[in-house]
Amino acid sequence: MAAVIGAWPQHERFLRNSLSDYGSQELAMVDDLARRITVLAGDRMAEVVQSYRWMCGELTKETLYFKKHDAYRLSTFADADRLVYSNRPYMKQYMEGLLCSQALWRNHSAAFLFFRTNFLSRLREGFSYLEVGPGHGLFLSVAAEQQACAQARGWDVSEESLRQTALALEALGSAHGVALEQRDVLASAAVDGELFDGIAVSEVLEHLEQPREALVSLRRRLAPEGLIFINVPLNSPAPDHIYLLRTAQDARALVEAAGLEVVDLQLAPMTGYSVAEAERQKATVSCLIIAK
Ligand SMILES: C[S@@+](CC[C@H](N)C(=O)[O-])C[C@H]1O[C@@H](n2cnc3c(N)ncnc32)[C@H](O)[C@@H]1O
Repeated sequence: MAAVIGAWPQHERFLRNSLSDYGSQELAMVDDLARRITVLAGDRMAEVVQSYRWMCGELTKETLYFKKHDAYRLSTFADADRLVYSNRPYMKQYMEGLLCSQALWRNHSAAFLFFRTNFLSRLREGFSYLEVGPGHGLFLSVAAEQQACAQARGWDVSEESLRQTALALEALGSAHGVALEQRDVLASAAVDGELFDGIAVSEVLEHLEQPREALVSLRRRLAPEGLIFINVPLNSPAPDHIYLLRTAQDARALVEAAGLEVVDLQLAPMTGYSVAEAERQKATVSCLIIAK
């Protein structure tokens, strides 16, 4: 926070608001996140903070579009791929920005706490783990570090994301036993029959034209008693978001249409909003789901 406030003092109130209602246990977990981010930024902290500020600007543009048209700007994966995933410099800044927001935004840090306390803790001893779209690598690093984790895989469509994930795992000392592959989740259904005890798909479904099909193929990869963690933001305009979910009911219906059963669902509104206020104003809410 100090690094961001130093470069962008006007953002201080927002940042303090993001942490205002956390207790000491939650703050300790956010602190651990901040430690990871500081390690990954290394001596490039000023550049990473610039990426965060740039990303906030890009998201503001998309929010203005969303407010005006009540729709996301893009609607095809091909466009998102061309403009974002395959655009290396853009993707690099974007992933660095998201790296910071993981600790700095209320809904992102809440998603991370839910992932640790509600999801990872429920996976069996010796679990195998698959993460789709690991991006900055923070979720994958924590999963791979669990004593109970026997092996982990990460699939991402973007070369730049995979590069950042690999660097993150290396820097955090969590690379052992983790295999990374460039794969499109929608093209992966029939590749092999490996099953996983835990699957995480965080901030990915809204990037897909066919999120239901992706969930169906992931459901088929769940081991008996396996669990899937889904983090999907509602009303969340971004340069690469193409699939708009407006309510928690939309998200639940999507998960159930894929043949999954919801076992836990929590809503984490963006900084400065209650769930009710966010719904009223169509502000972003992260919908956090564990399903089987
Ligand atoms: C917004 S980032 C999410 C990063 C991280 N999981 C998080 O929660 O912050 C979305 C990631 O999904 C990847 N992605 C998008 N479409 C994908 C697809 N069809 N198959 C696999 N990965 C995909 C992107 O390249 C990117 O790394």
